[in-house]
Amino acid sequence: MPLTVIDHPLADHLLTVLRDRTTPPHHFRAATRELTVILLLEAVRDGPRVPKHVDTPLEPFDGSEMPDDFVAVPVLRAGLGMLDAVAQLLPEVSVGYIGLERNEETLEPASYYEKLPPVAGKRVLLLDPMLATGGSASRALSSIKAKAPAACRLVCVVAAPEGVARLERDHPDVHVFTAALDRALNERGYILPGLGDFGDRLYGTEP
Ligand code: PRP
Ligand code: URA
Repeated sequence: MPLTVIDHPLADHLLTVLRDRTTPPHHFRAATRELTVILLLEAVRDGPRVPKHVDTPLEPFDGSEMPDDFVAVPVLRAGLGMLDAVAQLLPEVSVGYIGLERNEETLEPASYYEKLPPVAGKRVLLLDPMLATGGSASRALSSIKAKAPAACRLVCVVAAPEGVARLERDHPDVHVFTAALDRALNERGYILPGLGDFGDRLYGTEP
């Protein structure tokens, strides 16, 4: 399974803001948006260019445009924090939603919502900031793949080795883009060093 760990000083800076336990939710949301821009640039880097001829004020020019065949699917709740940046950079993107919540004891994801636009033949960007056990991402990818997309990519913020191994097993064709590959999971399934519960920090719902 292809895995790209972003190597960029601005990505490291923003990730450090996210890891810092003193970062308040409004800064956390802003850093998430900014980091998603960097991740997205990498996730669409090798996409096709469609030739487009334009006239500059001075001369004709043979340029290009990106096909608008993207579907973004944030996993609720935390993936919603990444959606604004994607919709801003890909204004024609269609958006689907998958609601999953991990059971605190079993760590298995429970599905509570799914609404996908047509994805057949489209390039799907699954947005979920935390790849921990990989259960949530694997479940979301299975749902999406059942609808025959052209390709799926997972854009996340922090990945754990356990989650990478799970996707390697379940979805070896999915390219994963992350800002960090962390050390391990703790006994409660949290990523170490990680950044805590992404959804709680994004929405200010920490217990
Ligand atoms: C978080 C995160 C992922 C999931 C990752 O969601 O956003 O979806 O955990 O864990 P996994 O790889 O072990 O499945 P959570 O279930 O906490 O829900 P929330 O976003 O609503 O807080
Ligand atoms: N979900 C989170 O939000 N954080 C983790 O560390 C693991 C799963």
